[in-house]
Amino acid sequence: MELTADMKRVVAEQQLGFIATVTPDGRPNLSPKGTTVVVDDSHLLFADVASPNTVRNLSGNPHIEINVVDPIVRKGYRFKGTATVHTDGDRYQRGLALLGERGSSLPGDRVRSIVVVEVVEAAALVSPAYDQDVSEQSVAANWLAKVAQLYRDRFGS
Ligand SMILES: Cc1cc2nc3c(=O)[nH]c(=O)nc-3n(C[C@H](O)[C@H](O)[C@H](O)COP(=O)(O)O)c2cc1C
Repeated sequence: MELTADMKRVVAEQQLGFIATVTPDGRPNLSPKGTTVVVDDSHLLFADVASPNTVRNLSGNPHIEINVVDPIVRKGYRFKGTATVHTDGDRYQRGLALLGERGSSLPGDRVRSIVVVEVVEAAALVSPAYDQDVSEQSVAANWLAKVAQLYRDRFGS
């Protein structure tokens, strides 16, 4: 499958993917990766810096799902596919280079592996907030106000 321009935009803007894998005993394992980037028309990648369970799970079962959501606009995408884990070689080096190009300040020596995901299926995620015929602008304004209030309460200013 081919990632659309809008899928690529959301991943590039958010950079944060929630990554689901399956444990050896068949349980879900979900964790965030702030290094989620688009590689090309059908691949995403993320850096394993501190993700031992995700990497262990993929060694036995390459199936993966990644959700990338804009929490202000309340829309995003879910990507299903298979992953390969690269601890050295060309794909590892190209992954590090790509992370740098996409603005990551992560030093290369912190990256234990680069996980490349071939996306075979993708679908939009849309909040039920949109059931009531509202615009993205009004949903975003509502959440921006809530977030601003939350951090004013927490940190002052
Ligand atoms: C916002 C956020 C972004 C993160 N980004 C990454 C990442 O890109 N790579 C990574 O290895 N860990 C990242 N982490 C840390 C892992 O999610 C965390 O170490 C987690 O426990 C790993 O679990 P796992 O072994 O099940 O993958 C991030 C955590 C947060 C809260």
